[in-house]
Amino acid sequence: MFRRYKITVIGAGATGATTAHLLALKEMGDVVLIDIVEGVPQGRGLDMFESGPIEEFSNTVLGTNDYAATAGSDVIVVTAGMPRKPGMSRNDLLKINADIVHNVVQQATKVSPDAVIVVLTNPADVMAYVAQKASGFGYERVIGQAGVLDSARFRTFLAEALAVSPRDVSAFVMGGHGDDMVPLVRYSYAGGIPVEKLLPQETLEAIVQRTRTGGGEILSLEKASAYYAPASSLAAMVKAVLFDERRILPVIAYLRGEYGQEDIYVGVPAVVGGNGIERVLEVEFSPEEAAAFKRSVQSVREPLSLLGLDQ
Ligand code: NAI
Ligand code: 2OP
Repeated sequence: MFRRYKITVIGAGATGATTAHLLALKEMGDVVLIDIVEGVPQGRGLDMFESGPIEEFSNTVLGTNDYAATAGSDVIVVTAGMPRKPGMSRNDLLKINADIVHNVVQQATKVSPDAVIVVLTNPADVMAYVAQKASGFGYERVIGQAGVLDSARFRTFLAEALAVSPRDVSAFVMGGHGDDMVPLVRYSYAGGIPVEKLLPQETLEAIVQRTRTGGGEILSLEKASAYYAPASSLAAMVKAVLFDERRILPVIAYLRGEYGQEDIYVGVPAVVGGNGIERVLEVEFSPEEAAAFKRSVQSVREPLSLLGLDQ
């Protein structure tokens, strides 16, 4: 007996609503959009559902405030969280979002005990850890989103500089989802040709810097956080899990000694499939890359320690 996949998206704000619509458009399964605010998920969910006859998708989209409606989900996407407000420190936001993520993950996993969780809420590396603790799931069944987005930005800028299709550019970013993330030029290719052979060093350095501050660039232009490319990133991750694609994606994964790091969720290349993280891939670092990765990991350990989640 076949059945459709079911995906819960928690948080019906900018990223959550955009993701839910993409999942419906891409016919990934029935989508349940849930938020704490009454009316908003119901309205947005219905609006998306009504695009079905035009877009020709057959799956359902339902908005709700009730976790009972999310029961039996195959994937749970977590976008719930507060944006920073004037007068708030990052650490205020950290604690607020940690409480929200803990709470929503506990409620959602109670009724979907076999799901894979994909976490977007910032700071995403730390929130992936919070989600794992709240769910009690195996580490491989909790994945954080940062690298697919950061690498998409990196690939976009490389493709733009080369005036080629971004489809032919492969590149990835490692480390924490902050301004000290590590875009790896040495592992970047256009049509199989190392980009270092195609672009001057100063162009590559400018692209690395622009990638690192890619989120801030959107924020400064729009006065709001990005959501189109983040939603596309989430949809790609959900697809990799639902269809057991075993894609190599840069994602926030739990490390048990890989890259010399223990007990931390941070951005690394990994095989993503039906079980979540199928395996973490280890690439060889130059001394400079190793130092940059270590610095970036340290930036993730600090907020973990503020939450008392470090060992
Ligand atoms: P938003 O403010 O548009 O939406 C957040 C939604 O969460 C709101 O609708 C709010 O009502 C809901 N919410 C708050 N508490 C909740 C609770 N207890 N239960 C259910 N829903 C709750 O924010 P946006 O732009 O969608 O961003 C969401 C999060 O994702 C932020 O933390 C943002 O920084 C992060 N983000 C992370 C990215 C990444 O690559 N890791 C990329 C883009 C955004
Ligand atoms: C981004 O990178 C804000 O984390 C979000 O766009």
